This record gives sequence, C-alpha cells and structure tokens, in this order.
Amino acid sequence: VQLKPYNSFRVSARARLFCRVDTPQELKEVLALYPHEKKLVLGGGYNMLFTTDFDGLIIQPVMKQIQVLSEDNDRIEIEAGAAVVWDDFVDYCVREGYAGLENLSLIPGTVGASPVQNIGAYGAEVKDGISAVRAMELSTGKAVVFSHADCRFSYRDSLFKHERNYVITSVVFRLHKTFVYQEKYIDLSRELKGVPHPTLQQVRQAVIRIRERKLPDYATLPNAGSFFKNPLLTGGEKEALLSKLPDAPVYAAGEGRFKTSAAYLIDKAGYKGKRRGMVGTYPGHALIMVNYGTDKGSDIIDFMKEVQEAVSDRFCVALEPEVRIY
Ligand code: EPU
Repeated sequence: VQLKPYNSFRVSARARLFCRVDTPQELKEVLALYPHEKKLVLGGGYNMLFTTDFDGLIIQPVMKQIQVLSEDNDRIEIEAGAAVVWDDFVDYCVREGYAGLENLSLIPGTVGASPVQNIGAYGAEVKDGISAVRAMELSTGKAVVFSHADCRFSYRDSLFKHERNYVITSVVFRLHKTFVYQEKYIDLSRELKGVPHPTLQQVRQAVIRIRERKLPDYATLPNAGSFFKNPLLTGGEKEALLSKLPDAPVYAAGEGRFKTSAAYLIDKAGYKGKRRGMVGTYPGHALIMVNYGTDKGSDIIDFMKEVQEAVSDRFCVALEPEVRIY
C-alpha cells in the first residue's frame, strides 16, 4: 500500500500490509492473524515522517463513537473513539459547553493520537483533560486501561511515544461544565482583547483565527506542524544563550530548567522561510517544515540536519524533532 495519502508531509513510502479496524474485537482478530508481523499504528498521519518503506503491518483504527460515561454538577466524563477527528471532538465539546480543550482547537489529527505526543497549544495540554486511555497490547491482543499517571505525560511526550506495544482504542476525557477564561498565553489574550468575559466559543474562534494566520494549510502546503520541540535548557545553558541573544524568549519550566523558542532560534539563524530544493521552513513560521514537492522523506531529513547544524553552530542549542520519524 502506498502511504502518501496517509501522511501529511505527502512523501512516498510503501507498507507491505495495511488494515483498518472498526472495533476492539476486530483489532484483536487482526493481531491474532499476524502475531509475528512488525506493526505500526497510524492515526491521521499528521505527525509522521516516513523515510523508508515499512516492511510490516500498518494498523489504522477507525473507531468513532463518543459517549458520556458519567457527570455531576460541574464535571463530565466522556469517552471518544481513537478515530474521531480531533477538531470535531473539540467543536462538539465547545458546543455542549464542556470546557478544557478549547485552546487545542484546529490541531490536526485524531483523538487517539492526542495523548501520544500530549498535544498542546496556547498554554493548554491535552493531558489536563485526560482521565484514562484505553488501548490494546499489540503482542497479546489484551485490552488495557492506562490511568492518567500511567501515561507519564510531559511536554510533547508520553509513555506511548516510547512504548510501541499499544494501539490506543479510545480516550476518556474529564472536562468542566463551567468556564471562566483564564489568561495562559499572551497571544491568545491579545486576540481576545475587547471581549470582557470570553465564552468557550469565543476562545475557540480566537484560537482558530491565530492558527489560520500563522500556520500553513496542509491541503496546499504539506507539513507536520511544529517540526522541532521547544528546547529545554539548564540555568547555565540559558545564561550562555542570553549572552549571545539577549532578546531570546525564555520561560521557567520547573526543576531549575528553562524553555526557549525553537522558532526564534531558527529565525535568528537565518532559516525562516529558507528553502533547499523542494523543502523549506514556512515563511510565516520558522518552526514549520514544508514539503514543496518532493516524494522523498530523506530530502526533509537532509534539510532538518542543516537547520539543526545552523542553530547548534550559532547558539549551541540542540534541536530535537517533535515529529516521529520512521
Ligand atoms: N517566533 C519567531 N519566529 C517565527 C515564529 C515564532 O521568532 O517564525 C518566536 C516568537 O518570539 C514567538 C515565539 O517564537 O513569540 C513562540 O511562537 P508561537 O507562539 O507560534 O509558539 P511556538 O512555541 O513556536 C508552540 C507549539 C505549537 C503551538 C504554539 C501555540 C511546540 C513545538 N509548538 O509553538 O504547536 O500551536 O506553541 O501554543 O511546542 C505543533 O506542535 O505542531 C504546534 C503547532
């Protein structure tokens, strides 16, 4: 199967076997049928870069049910199938008045992919709305439930990014039934200026406006969102960076560490809107790598290395990919 339609970078790669599963039962049967095959789980393919063919079985869950599990006066617990389109789920929650996910509007991908890299934007992370993750063990077909603590969430990271033995089948969210806007991210508050008490819907619309202004459209300019993570620095590294770039944004990130902006560093290294052949960084946002027409994932990797080298040479900071590379 050609994987080009299944990854948002639109690079070519082939999988020997490809299969969609509608229910946990069907998934169990497929796993029993191919016990020894190498396996890879694919959501929407919005955070994947294929560099070679996949000699094994690709499984794409297509479970799409949404159900309320429990509720009281101020909290509601909802389970959503792995294949529910992420932004459709956010839209549903906002329309129903369930608060907690509105800052994560318009993030591409599926519900099942959201815990894997703990998607985040505008001061919110999906981990804060997740109470449990249901999955199936690839090696045994056994159903497992991960509590919030089991998932080991951190910045753009979770157990599922390292432990490849699970297919997420659904995610359980715990959301609020009341909402008071709290400032978490300056860009968002700026967008909401003049709105005295923003509603969930107004926050969602503001996030959508910011994202549409800054980020390229996947349909016309294939990309995978932020390509690198924002780097974490020690106190010493932060001081060294500020001596070279006094205006670099740095935020306290707990445990004596600091986060800086990968986009800012790439920009200052002269790599915003820079292009090599068919690959480049987006002119509107330095952290987005855009495919202008190559079929080869390796072209994107070559340019990635060039950007990493430029930032490391100029500012002694190592950029780590946020996108999953296969
Ligand atoms: N900046 C530049 N040049 C640029 C773009 C940004 O210098 O070309 C600087 C500016 O100083 C700006 C700062 O970088 O204030 C931060 O930029 P932005 O608000 O766009 O956020 P980001 O840190 O680049 C992160 C997430 C995004 C998320 C935004 C908004 C990561 C790796 N990325 O980007 O997530 O949408 O915050 O909250 O944490 C994604 O993961 O795919 C993604 C798009």
